[in-house]
Amino acid sequence: MTSRIIAGITLSALALLSCNTNTEKNKATANASWSGEVATIIYKNCTPCHRPGESGPFNLMSYSDALKKSKLIRFVTQTKYMPPWPADNTYSHFANERVLTANEIECIKNWVDNGTPRGDSLTEPEAPVFYTGSYFGKPDLSIRLKEAVKIKGNGNDAFLILKYPYQIEKDTVIDFVEFVPAQRKLVHHVNGHLVSYDEKREFNYQSGSNTNTDTKAQLMMVYDSMHIPYTDKLQPHFPTLTPNTVYYLPGYIPPAYPKEVGGYRFKKNGLFLLNNIHYGPSNKDALDSSYINVFFRKSKIERPVTETQMGTFGISKIEPDFVIPPNEVKTFHTQTTLPYNISMLSVNPHMHLIGKSFWAFAIKQNGDTIPLIKINKWDFRWQYYYTFLHPVKLEAGTTIHVYGTFDNTIKNPNNPFHPPQSITHGNGVESMKTTEEMFQFIFTYMPYRPGDENILLERLDENSRR
Ligand code: HEC
Repeated sequence: MTSRIIAGITLSALALLSCNTNTEKNKATANASWSGEVATIIYKNCTPCHRPGESGPFNLMSYSDALKKSKLIRFVTQTKYMPPWPADNTYSHFANERVLTANEIECIKNWVDNGTPRGDSLTEPEAPVFYTGSYFGKPDLSIRLKEAVKIKGNGNDAFLILKYPYQIEKDTVIDFVEFVPAQRKLVHHVNGHLVSYDEKREFNYQSGSNTNTDTKAQLMMVYDSMHIPYTDKLQPHFPTLTPNTVYYLPGYIPPAYPKEVGGYRFKKNGLFLLNNIHYGPSNKDALDSSYINVFFRKSKIERPVTETQMGTFGISKIEPDFVIPPNEVKTFHTQTTLPYNISMLSVNPHMHLIGKSFWAFAIKQNGDTIPLIKINKWDFRWQYYYTFLHPVKLEAGTTIHVYGTFDNTIKNPNNPFHPPQSITHGNGVESMKTTEEMFQFIFTYMPYRPGDENILLERLDENSRR
């Protein structure tokens, strides 16, 4: 009994100090200290990127790290520049949202304004521990290239095709894949597929070139030179391909679905085909030894996840024609009506440099609107796959609407052309160039089953998976 009372007292005392509490809010935030409030906020929301080997330009791993940057930290949290999270969290919610509450922002401000007090060192939270080389802990398999990729220091963007062959003892199932960039400052984004070979066929996928830059040539010829197709001349020529298993952007966290959802078959022999790795311009020759971590799952696949895309290269047409004339701000629309009930799991809005805003929602047959995602200020650098907290049920007959606005005026600091020029999408692989545009809404889903609304997709073990 006594201990319960003591526990109760301690808890309410903590609640008074916490920056998340609404009671006594002003009092609590006014006295914010590092050990009381600020360390917890920083370690949860900043340290995942601001640590050695990650994308953040400096570390936020200790009190002294934070002290050195305290004024900048106050500034970037006041302006909501950090943590980077372009989706409007007053419109829809996602799993593992990295958004500070107004109270947390206030805490940081008061802490800096009051001279960055350290607080009680006895109660100071310890910095989170991360496994080196992976965001998620020890992978079951790491796939590396035999030779590093050569990036030419010619000041141009480079769009390469890479293959990462592997061989394991027996077929298995994978949970998710993590791409670990080595040249973090140069790797802009990565899109890749899993290619699986049939044991009974002939192939020599371990040989051939690992890199191909000649993406303008016929893709089949490129794949031949990389030794990707079967060599026995039988049909089909090309092995089975699983779409978008590898995805990378700075700060991107691959979703870890509950065990009944998702997963991919992983054959004994196969490769990851990064059919688009985009390196930003470099003025010096550089070598990149990025690698791929694979995490197995013990259970079998019950409910495979499918991906589809609307807009550019997708199932739905862009209206009007996708041309953005110089000196214009122009909005485009695309829509599709669902033939059967689905559970939508995640969404990935995609535009390039002159994107301005993005909005997707669904309208049911009875006229009700289901909000999906709204990005009020598009930022080319932070294009996440946003996973919903729970699968979103969309019934047959529901129409998904997507609006994208592009700013091709001189007022847009990201406009690649001065003076502005007419911009449209390119042809195939080349259209990934940032000076050309795309308007895409990619989403993952599975056929709906009753109860899907209750599945929790949030990653509870974000920083310490294993
Ligand atoms: C998803 C990864 C990620 C997270 C999370 C993140 N940052 Fe950053 N941060 C970056 C990257 C990358 C840069 C450098 C590029 C840029 O400035 O946009 C950066 C830059 C900064 C800068 C320098 C800005 C400048 O103009 O010099 C500060 C300060 C900063 N972050 C603070 C924070 C704080 C405080 C948090 C948590 C509240 C945080 N960051 C969370 C990735 C992240």
